[in-house]
Amino acid sequence: MTAPLIDPFQRAVNYLRVSVTDRCDFRCVYCMSENMTFLPKKELLTLEELDRMCSTFVRLGVEKLRITGGEPLVRRDIMTFFRSMTRHLDAGTLKELTLTTNGSQLERFADDLYACGVRRVNISLDTMDEKKFADITRWGRLPQVLRGIDAAQKAGLRVKINAVALKGFNEDELFPLAEWCAERDMDMTWIEVMPMGDLGNEDRLDQYWSLRDLRARLAERYTLTDLTERSGGPARYVRLEETGQKIGFITPMTHNFCESCNRVRLTCTGELYMCLGQEDMADLRAPLRASAQGEGQLEDAIRAAIRLKPKGHDFDYSRQKVDGQMTRHMSHTGG
Ligand code: GTP
Ligand code: 5AD
Ligand code: SF4
Repeated sequence: MTAPLIDPFQRAVNYLRVSVTDRCDFRCVYCMSENMTFLPKKELLTLEELDRMCSTFVRLGVEKLRITGGEPLVRRDIMTFFRSMTRHLDAGTLKELTLTTNGSQLERFADDLYACGVRRVNISLDTMDEKKFADITRWGRLPQVLRGIDAAQKAGLRVKINAVALKGFNEDELFPLAEWCAERDMDMTWIEVMPMGDLGNEDRLDQYWSLRDLRARLAERYTLTDLTERSGGPARYVRLEETGQKIGFITPMTHNFCESCNRVRLTCTGELYMCLGQEDMADLRAPLRASAQGEGQLEDAIRAAIRLKPKGHDFDYSRQKVDGQMTRHMSHTGG
């Protein structure tokens, strides 16, 4: 039997996040700069290489694959890749195939995703206000995303809404967003903004809204019950007793969740990042291309990389300044 992937801190790695493109049809201000330069397409792993890469991880014990980007659904022919992963779901080796998306292309792809075995999708939505939505995404159109959310639900996909908590931007939407999600039977997760990317004139500390504060505000209106169950990611959940809805908190800044980290991230060029908040990475593209017959070299490279997984990230705002800032854009590593 193949030995599982265990890191130096005895954490089992069973969750792979795969960025299939660095491109996106939006330019969310906390994620991308206005003038992004994207990778030439020839730099990307081909769909066949992505399949070989992911299949090797599944063989090594990865049970959850989350496809990300950029925006994963803008990659041409991406459904071919989703379809190719269905065999691992059918075999029972892969327990979950899912994606994080901005929702803009879901109207087109929701049914196909369901047919490929996807059952759950996380959709980024920071505001319900059309003008604010256009500002935060730089040019996205809210109605298109709302139609995507409807299509996903109609197709039978369970939807979770992700919102980045931004001071002075969506503080006033804490209750409207929760109510809107509850009406549609959708859970939601709030995320603390992380100091990543080329910030230009922006200061993450100015934008930072601590989830400790957000939770306290929620508790003024609802009875919150802490839930112990997790969804396999870093979110911790509460149930709002009045609506039955679950709200999650992803708190890299106020509560470091790294001790239970179970994931690594593959970029669209085949680099493996062991942590979102660290620069260390291993190139898997060369061993992938070298292992045309059998994946022995690739397996060895993956095991060697996992041995380098750090204990946790270096992000820190606690000294009233940004420590651990990284110029790498979130869209490069896939969030
Ligand atoms: P579930 O399967 O629903 O638990 O999803 P998830 O929370 O693992 O994935 P999702 O893509 O919804 O994560 C949303 C955001 O949370 C990401 O875009 C990141 O901003 C942040 N996040 C997810 N995983 C990590 C992590 O390991 N470390 C840090 N620092 N942030 C993370
Ligand atoms: N801080 C926190 N989350 C971010 N995302 C992108 N950039 C950041 C950041 N600087 C996350 C959001 C979005 C997902 C695609 O990436 O959760 O929903
Ligand atoms: Fe894991 Fe790094 Fe995220 Fe911490 S910051 S949970 S170590 S990926």
